[in-house]
Amino acid sequence: MKFKSAIRMLAFSTAIAMTSIASASEDDAHAKAAGWNKGGGEQDAALHLTPNLENGLDVFEVCSACHLPEGWGTKEGTFPQLAGQHRKVLIKQLADIRALNRDNPTMYPFALPESIGDEQAIADVTEYIYKLKMNPDNGKGPDTSDMAKGEKLYKDNCVKCHGDIGQGDAEKFYPRLAGQHYNYMLRQFEWIRDGKRRNANPDMVEQIKGFSQQDMVDVINFVSRIPVPKEDVAPSKDYQNPDFD
Ligand code: HEC
Ligand code: HEC
Repeated sequence: MKFKSAIRMLAFSTAIAMTSIASASEDDAHAKAAGWNKGGGEQDAALHLTPNLENGLDVFEVCSACHLPEGWGTKEGTFPQLAGQHRKVLIKQLADIRALNRDNPTMYPFALPESIGDEQAIADVTEYIYKLKMNPDNGKGPDTSDMAKGEKLYKDNCVKCHGDIGQGDAEKFYPRLAGQHYNYMLRQFEWIRDGKRRNANPDMVEQIKGFSQQDMVDVINFVSRIPVPKEDVAPSKDYQNPDFD
């Protein structure tokens, strides 16, 4: 389809431009009163639709411009890994981005109904993404970071929501963290702490409000090194998604 391929090309050129910019951060003119998980809207609609995997792959081609065909994102953390993330988390984040409840100026135009379709497209593409095998070589934090301190901070402040091996909780919309890129997580963590990520969970904000810069580095470094269960990881870092050629 002509229209879809134009969107795809635009997405690819944006992705290339983005890789030279460290962060997608930008003041947001659309700031709205927002909440963490009010439900309703596209999120609920997508959760209740029957996904069409074939269309999911078609939509994912647009996403692959930035998140790569394997859904692995980029190691330096500009683009997060999506592969292996819980489907409910993916649905919530996509719906939030579309509703401007989470700032993502780079991705926003490509996530809109005009580009990919209505809530059925959300149901379809997330069904495709969550089953993708994860990157065996995610971005890690600095070697100089204090692992023992990071582990203790994680146990005391994060396990109750993100789980003992960073697996998150699909039912409660708590993201999987293990396997995610360090720089992406550090940026999100800081934005959540400082109230910049509007869809953040208020209990998490409360839990981490006293974290210093060094605490953040130590805990996120620890998280970036939690091994992902073998069955969820691709066989090698040279693995290529066979649906793309
Ligand atoms: C032009 C580049 C670009 C395209 C195309 C793109 N994204 Fe993204 N996406 C990003 C960036 C950059 C972020 C991280 C923003 C941030 O740091 O807050 C992101 C974040 C996300 C997140 C949040 C991840 C998380 O862990 O919370 C989801 C979900 C997502 N994208 C899904 C998609 C889907 C599905 C598509 C295709 C329909 C898509 N993206 C297309 C750039 C893109
Ligand atoms: C009360 C539950 C809770 C606690 C405690 C908590 N989190 Fe979270 N965290 C969440 C939820 C829920 C989200 C997703 C928010 C949303 O929907 O946008 C999240 C998001 C994140 C993200 C962004 C993930 C992504 O894919 O974008 C990171 C990184 C993170 N948490 C790290 C931590 C760390 C590290 C700790 C401990 C220091 C912690 N969290 C404590 C519930 C929690």
